[in-house]
Amino acid sequence: MRWGDLPARPRRVLIVALHLVAVAVVGVADYVSGPQYELRTFYLIPVMSATWLGGRAFGLGVAALATVSLFFANDYLGRALAYGIDVPLWNTITRFVLYSVVVLLTAQLRRQDRELRSRRDELLREAELREGSIALFVHELRHSAASMALASASLESSPRLADDERSFVGRLRQQAGDLERVASGLLTIGRLESGSLALDLVPVDLDRLACDAAAASNAPDRIEVRHAARPVAVRADPDHLRRALDNYIRNALAYSAPPARVTVDVVEREGAAGLVVSDAGIGFDPRETSKLFRKYGRLSGPSERRDGAGLGLYLTRLIVEAHGGTVDARSEGRGTGARFALYLPLAREV
Ligand SMILES: Nc1ncnc2c1ncn2[C@@H]1O[C@H](COP(=O)(O)OP(=O)(O)OP(=O)(O)O)[C@@H](O)[C@H]1O
Ligand SMILES: [Mg+2]
Repeated sequence: MRWGDLPARPRRVLIVALHLVAVAVVGVADYVSGPQYELRTFYLIPVMSATWLGGRAFGLGVAALATVSLFFANDYLGRALAYGIDVPLWNTITRFVLYSVVVLLTAQLRRQDRELRSRRDELLREAELREGSIALFVHELRHSAASMALASASLESSPRLADDERSFVGRLRQQAGDLERVASGLLTIGRLESGSLALDLVPVDLDRLACDAAAASNAPDRIEVRHAARPVAVRADPDHLRRALDNYIRNALAYSAPPARVTVDVVEREGAAGLVVSDAGIGFDPRETSKLFRKYGRLSGPSERRDGAGLGLYLTRLIVEAHGGTVDARSEGRGTGARFALYLPLAREV
């Protein structure tokens, strides 16, 4: 049984008994060792712990008991009878004052500790409520965005639309798609952070995944996929792994200007399979590498001019780590392009 599970009454009795024993133990040690060893200082331990566990009044009670114990253990009574009351009385009073000050300070600390704990619990409760309503909102948002994207896609193919109307509806479809992607990214981040995302692991051919991701991107003609010498496979959840790669590709296209090319290399090295996305774009200062994969980790400089939440790379890292893999980012500096990689354990067979 844990301490916190004990009912209040037995717990109080136990606390009182333990402190009486503690004062008695220090008293005996103080008596046996004699005044030159200064074991009196150890009365502070039961005094402080009594205040912390039982409150100020109980602390003062133990302080008074410690003072009485000290009085007899150091034979103040005998000395008072032999040499006069002044010095023993003075010593006793100063000790009691000292213990009382310690009690007051400990009680103050205890009160602040309790206030902080209850504030923390309150904040946690509020955060939980807020997160719950945000998750509900994002869920609804994703649903509506998906319906909007679907409706605009079917409208876009209608022969009755004029060219400018079709391009308008196309933009609408794209933006609804972006909204759906952001909303579902946020939901996935929430699940990965709370550890509630169940991965559906199957053998995944990285060559196929890279080609599909390139073909479905905003600018397939700017992307070149380079395959390894032999087929490379991993055990992964294909939808989530694809999302991780999409984030790299989307960044590479966004942070480099057309017609600069982006390459996706499928690699195999030392028992790991990797996807490496390289671009010739704005790059970044290598000293800022550690910021990249953090939540909301947007860098200062040219990339600030683009819209972005700073969640794409964070999501990629969470997904890759949930698969037991690692991520990596390199750049020689601003304006020199960048190279983002993800590595997963190699599967034995596809
Ligand atoms: N290929 C790249 N070249 C240079 N900087 C990059 C590249 N990819 C990412 N970055 C930097 O890393 C930051 C974080 O990228 P991340 O994808 O997480 O967020 P984002 O692109 O700003 O927004 P979003 O959440 O919409 O993807 C970017 O803001 C940018 O500063
Ligand atoms: Mg991004």
